[in-house]
Amino acid sequence: MSHATPSSQPAMPEDPRARRKLPRPPGPPWYTAVSNTVTFARQTLSFLRGLREHYGDLVTLPTVLGPWILVFHPDGVRHVVQENHFNYRKGGISHQVLRLTLGNGLLTNNGDSWLHQRRLIQPIFHRERIAAMGRLMTESAASWTEAINIETQQPLDLFPQMSGLTLDIVCKALFGADLLEYKERVFQASGAINHLEAQALYMPGLLFLPTPQRQRLYEARATVSTVVDALIAKRRARSTESDLLTMLLQAQDEETGLGMTNEQVRDEVLTLLAAGQETTANALCWTLVLLSQHPDIEARLREEYTRVLGGRAPQVEDLPQLKLSRMVLEESMRLYPPAWAFARSAIDEDEIGGYRIAKGAYVLLFPATTQRHPDFWEQPDVFDPERFSPERSAGRHRFAYFPFGGGPRICIGNQFALTEAQLILATVLPRYQFRLLPRAEVVPEPLITLRPRGKLLMTISRKGGQP
Ligand code: HEM
Repeated sequence: MSHATPSSQPAMPEDPRARRKLPRPPGPPWYTAVSNTVTFARQTLSFLRGLREHYGDLVTLPTVLGPWILVFHPDGVRHVVQENHFNYRKGGISHQVLRLTLGNGLLTNNGDSWLHQRRLIQPIFHRERIAAMGRLMTESAASWTEAINIETQQPLDLFPQMSGLTLDIVCKALFGADLLEYKERVFQASGAINHLEAQALYMPGLLFLPTPQRQRLYEARATVSTVVDALIAKRRARSTESDLLTMLLQAQDEETGLGMTNEQVRDEVLTLLAAGQETTANALCWTLVLLSQHPDIEARLREEYTRVLGGRAPQVEDLPQLKLSRMVLEESMRLYPPAWAFARSAIDEDEIGGYRIAKGAYVLLFPATTQRHPDFWEQPDVFDPERFSPERSAGRHRFAYFPFGGGPRICIGNQFALTEAQLILATVLPRYQFRLLPRAEVVPEPLITLRPRGKLLMTISRKGGQP
């Protein structure tokens, strides 16, 4: 940290009067609020980097929506999400926007209600259950591989392709075969929701006033809700499937024996559909982009697939042997973390790194900036998967890398996502080679997730005589 780190500080002043004497984190003057908001919306990532370089690891950014506290140092991240997490709840504008569609699901819930739901849902994401889903992940990836038509030589827009594939997998995992007839409707509606929510992050009035956009958002949410409600009703009547929906419906509190209401199950399902689809699709897209830009690493990855799989379909049991594949994915999520930012609201006054955090402050954490912090990463902008080898990872700050967050609210789907992404890559890459068009520039666009701006056009060619 360019200022003293929390760990090297004396213990936080217990006396609130002493704490009140601490300075606010430095930052641009208050009268720059309008230009800060515009620059943040237009040049988010370079603006954040500049703020860190200029003001240090903890910054107060005046905006038209009020001051924002930007935490760049891993010690500060750890303080907010782990050490003093009781003081930081989900709140602020991003939270309100997400709540419009996700209601009181796990991602947007708080306090005792969140803890209760997290305890109910956690066992569903147990490692063994995810391993059991490996087959459906590989089969979906194989069907996608067979369905794409590469004979036309036309470049494909990869982002909708990968979103379709990850939605397919999360739907099958959640609902078994039941959702198939509604899939197209859910795909259209969740695309519309993502788009509208992203717009509203910088223009909250779009959704909080009676605008056409708000109308469209409500219609899209109603479409998905109707489908989910129908599936819940069907499943309550007959529960022979052993998918996530059945588990949600059967989950019971150990102490009270109570299960979830239909409304709560619906919010949880909408949350899992939303949180589990676009994030993983982005991780896959960025990995394919990086491999296209680094053919030497791609060639080594193919060797690994040939050596470990020898042309057969991958299984969950193969993943520990696919070491380079895992490092490639980790490095891709370091450079382009799909959840590039997330936020908290301070319940009470606090201290981070010798600075005062006001009660109610809107506190933002940025994997996209911290994961390229030069004090923690050598040549931070270079794609170098080997930095995730056990030797080079030893001693690294736990919160220098946090694509899935951390502390009690760490992503519940992280094992699901890692398994899914690796199985998809191990199915698709031995068969096909993906290339960006000549001179194509891929620009990251930080919306709700970090996606490639515009169309991600890539040509696909067959590789290695595979069927
Ligand atoms: C590469 C893929 C993914 C990334 C990068 C990612 C990232 C994250 C991050 C950073 C958080 C924490 C946010 C915060 O602390 O404010 C989170 C939470 C969450 N994620 Fe993921 N996620 C991914 C995939 C998934 C999948 C596949 C699912 C479910 C199928 C999922 C479900 C959730 C849920 C429910 C939460 C809220 C957990 C809680 O607050 O208790 N995510 N995710």
